[in-house]
Amino acid sequence: MSANRISRREALALLAVGAYGAGGLLLNAGAVAKGISNLLPSDVTLTANRFDGSIIAGKQTAGLQSFAPGAPAPVLRMTQGQPFSAALVNELNEPTTIHWHGLRIPNDQDGVPDLTQPVVETGGRFRYAFTPPDAGTFWYHPHCNTLEQMGRGMTGMLIVDEPYDVGFDSEVVVNLRDFRLGGDGQFIEMFKPRDAARGGTLGTVMTANWQVEPEYEAAAGSLVRLRVAATDVTRLYKLGLTGGAAKLLALDSHPILDQMLPEEVWLGAGQRADFAVRMPSVEGEMVTLLTATGNGPKALVHLRATGADAGRALAELAPLQPNPVAVADLAKAEVIPFTFGWAPGEGLPSSHCGTLGYTFWSINRDSGKASELGEAPLAVLKLGGSYIFRLANETPNNHPIHIHGISFMLLKSNQREIVQRVTDTALLLPNETMDIALVADNPGDWAFHCHVIEHQKSGLAGFIRIA
Ligand code: C2O
Ligand code: CU
Ligand code: CU
Repeated sequence: MSANRISRREALALLAVGAYGAGGLLLNAGAVAKGISNLLPSDVTLTANRFDGSIIAGKQTAGLQSFAPGAPAPVLRMTQGQPFSAALVNELNEPTTIHWHGLRIPNDQDGVPDLTQPVVETGGRFRYAFTPPDAGTFWYHPHCNTLEQMGRGMTGMLIVDEPYDVGFDSEVVVNLRDFRLGGDGQFIEMFKPRDAARGGTLGTVMTANWQVEPEYEAAAGSLVRLRVAATDVTRLYKLGLTGGAAKLLALDSHPILDQMLPEEVWLGAGQRADFAVRMPSVEGEMVTLLTATGNGPKALVHLRATGADAGRALAELAPLQPNPVAVADLAKAEVIPFTFGWAPGEGLPSSHCGTLGYTFWSINRDSGKASELGEAPLAVLKLGGSYIFRLANETPNNHPIHIHGISFMLLKSNQREIVQRVTDTALLLPNETMDIALVADNPGDWAFHCHVIEHQKSGLAGFIRIA
């Protein structure tokens, strides 16, 4: 590690202080080099708070929110099979909680208000403690007044390390999300009803780790693990990598066997991808992560090769081991249909976790009347039983359908060839019906919703019971 590199890192840290105010955690830079930890130790305090900072260069934005005082949410790191704990301290003027997206942990740690725990009121504190059973790239976010709280910044990366070495030289952690800011840098309305009734309201400023097109350094010819999460409330990313050799290692935390890099890796809201990147051999050359947009490709992050060629090869990486997710017995599995549809109606009643004031969507023709997640479970599953969920999207919009507490296998689609793989989120394309298989091995009431948050908050949400 060159002195030059460390001083650049320190310079970035100083910039972060400038942007987010003194006292900000300096541990948030996106690039993580082996040997330099920007990650928090495993007993951490996450302080939900609101502050002013800068997203657009030279402009202040009032009312950012995060889990660290005056700084983006810290990257949390834990080890597969090792206990983790964190205290949430709520310094917001409203209640909140933390949900650990994709982690298969006990129900009372899942962070869903009223379903799994009471909200954490202003000034309150809640201690979460669990042992992550699966390794991979995950993320965390509130599950209360979610559109507003996530929209203002409360999304953080969560990494569960494998208990073995995969062989990377360094890592770059990328939290992709938009902010909905006007030209003056201030937040504009969090959603537009006509968009909420369609694909969802897009942000105006695309960021990676709260920065517009940041550039990170990595040794020339070295192997970098690029961990990417789509933590935006709406956007469907269509990712590509240019400039280096790369493989797709994992999707939604779980290793995939077919490691060819597809032309585009689609990540709906809440989804993740791990890439293995072999940096160019020549100093100064760039690898760029980009996404396709309606206006053509947009660069999100650049990795710049530094120093002499490390001479590594992608083939030197150890394969990722599958996570210990139970495999459904398809011969015995009960098929349960779910229909995601349109359902204009009354807005959901106001609650301590906010309402959009509209209903546009439904699951099984029910938008819920009393609360966001409905009064009764959408399905009751027997503990230990195998199930096939037949997820039918009756709408002309995309819906990343997410289930808490369990992971499932994508089986088949009526529209396309899909790679059978384990995930917590099934991205349903317009009018697509997809079968997923699961073992109901985690008891409790589990939220089941579209991760386009406007859809979730206007009817496309419910819960299932495993008992
Ligand atoms: Cu990211 Cu209800 O989940
Ligand atoms: Cu979740
Ligand atoms: Cu949706």
